[in-house]
Amino acid sequence: MSRVDYPALAARCAALTEGEQDIIALMATLACEIHHSDARFDWTGFYRNVGGDLLKIGPYQGGHGCLVIPFSRGVCGAAARTGQVQLVADVDAFPGHIACASSTRSEIVLPVWQGDALLGVLDIDSNQPAAFDETDAAALAAILQASFAP
Ligand code: SME
Repeated sequence: MSRVDYPALAARCAALTEGEQDIIALMATLACEIHHSDARFDWTGFYRNVGGDLLKIGPYQGGHGCLVIPFSRGVCGAAARTGQVQLVADVDAFPGHIACASSTRSEIVLPVWQGDALLGVLDIDSNQPAAFDETDAAALAAILQASFAP
């Protein structure tokens, strides 16, 4: 299923962000690079952990997203709450899915860590059903880990 050239994407992200520590600068660069790496990715962006069990929208590519998501809601909230990657093949079958775009059919959300601190989540939405798999999850998690290492 995966069509991204993940080694090339990881190398590009590493080269572009080398030496950068600013979280927003990192998120903005990764959102751009990841979004344009594969036609399956129709919305790519970060929600930031702002405390109080709330996520607020961060850098993204695609149409507008919801501004605030509580940890208790949606796929993004589930990733933040559990610290686990969420692979959702059919968003209509996910209880509490938040539909920012009615065209979205499937979604992957990964927690973003800096050491033990949860910085937020990376959310990628696709207009194709079951667009994401474990290969995407593993490769994206590795890119996030390398980019946000303390
Ligand atoms: N679908 C997400 C909300 C974020 S947007 O789709 C950009 C969710 O259920 O958490």
